[in-house]
Amino acid sequence: MALSAAIILAAGEGVRMHSRRPKVLHEFAGRTFLERVMGAVAGLEPDTMALVVRHQAERVAQAARGYNEHVEIVVQDEVPGTGRAVQCAMSQLESHGPLRGPVLVTACDMPLLDEGTLGQLLDYHISAGDDATVLTTTLEDPTGYGRVIRGSDGGVLRIVEQRDANRSELAVHEVNTSVYVFEAETLRQSIAGLDDSNAQGEFYLTDALEGARGHGRVGAYAAADPLSVEGVNDRVQLARLAKQHNIRVCEDWMRRGVTILDPETTWIEDEVKLEHDTTILPGCFLQGHSTVRADAVIGPYTTLIDASVDEGAIVERARVQESHIGAHANIGPWTYLRPGNDLGEGTKAGAYVEMKKAHIGKGTKVPHLSYVGDADLGEHTNIGGGTITANYDGVHKNHTHIGSHVHVGAGNLFVAPVEVGDDVTTGAGSVVRHETPDGAMVYSENTQHIVEDWKPRWERTQQ
Ligand code: UD1
Ligand code: MG
Repeated sequence: MALSAAIILAAGEGVRMHSRRPKVLHEFAGRTFLERVMGAVAGLEPDTMALVVRHQAERVAQAARGYNEHVEIVVQDEVPGTGRAVQCAMSQLESHGPLRGPVLVTACDMPLLDEGTLGQLLDYHISAGDDATVLTTTLEDPTGYGRVIRGSDGGVLRIVEQRDANRSELAVHEVNTSVYVFEAETLRQSIAGLDDSNAQGEFYLTDALEGARGHGRVGAYAAADPLSVEGVNDRVQLARLAKQHNIRVCEDWMRRGVTILDPETTWIEDEVKLEHDTTILPGCFLQGHSTVRADAVIGPYTTLIDASVDEGAIVERARVQESHIGAHANIGPWTYLRPGNDLGEGTKAGAYVEMKKAHIGKGTKVPHLSYVGDADLGEHTNIGGGTITANYDGVHKNHTHIGSHVHVGAGNLFVAPVEVGDDVTTGAGSVVRHETPDGAMVYSENTQHIVEDWKPRWERTQQ
């Protein structure tokens, strides 16, 4: 049965983060909590996805529309609490007529909430014939969470918040994850009677479960994966959860044939793809949609951001962004590849080399201390150390073309726009400003002057 609606609660400030940024816009492994939760919820294809906002409402709403243009934004009024958030959402969603069937309600501070867990909760809710089902988990340390209080028949009696709980209730380790499925009618009726008679003076959604008992069956479903429902309230929890998740990701890749020398210092984001027999050395950050093909060696201390690295390439102590590195290329150490580079097979970009929008042909080498920007270099060309493409004239970025089998001497300056043909040789220290034909030799006047028996001024004035 399809979900008639999903309500995502994101109106809270996230006080415990002590941040100018709303909690749901904090990032976890490269994507915001909001993007992650909306993605998981969208997997269930609800007829309507509503997002409740209030703190920095416009900022959160704008981010949400960026992830999913069909999201319905609900602005919570000044009355605080998760229960109030759902009241506001239901009155907006039902303004065109009553909802029917299951409604998913979820908090937005669980970065690892996934479609699978939500699907299992919904399936359980339907098969059990519940009117309301709460997703729970059992924690060794349940401090801060609402405790799930069950009756002698195992059914859920109520949820008690930490601050409102007595000693025996505090001893319960099964907690509310803030994810629920309600039948629409049950939800409508049970939120109608909420009040703020509790320690925080808020309308608690958790109280709706007690209300729901009056209308029908309230069940609980324990999440299969405890990490998927772990909430983040402060930055300590954020770091801890990120670490646990990352270790899992690394172990998963190791089981699939990737060598990771030190998973503790290797950070791999979820969308990254690695082929078997790649080796990741310590201190690497593999981010965005980066891909690494078989037998490549990454690191130590390398950052890949939306980069693709082909078979057998070596990328050591480098930062590589939105660039393609061909098979068996040799990058680093200390190389900075800014967006838009395409380095062919067997190329080299060595120490203190920076590139941007550079197309480097097969076998071409830029070994030392160079900047290559807005340029294309042919095949099997060698660039002497300390060479610069002067691409920026203060207004425009201009292009440099250097052909194949070119030998560029050390310390050259290519003043773009400029074209250099194939099989060209350039002298050391050349400033190349004009088109140079195939097979030519080019050098710049750079007269060497000698002053014999010269002494520095301070030595002369002493005499
Ligand atoms: C809530 C639950 C608690 C549960 C815990 C799980 C209540 C009363 N308590 O507590 O039982 O164990 O989550 O993490 O529901 N929000 C709004 N409007 C508000 C207040 C909060 O939309 O007025 C949103 C927040 O943005 C957040 C979610 O609701 O996404 C949960 O709020 P939070 O303040 O984190 O609740 P907890 O104290 O963690
Ligand atoms: Mg919370």
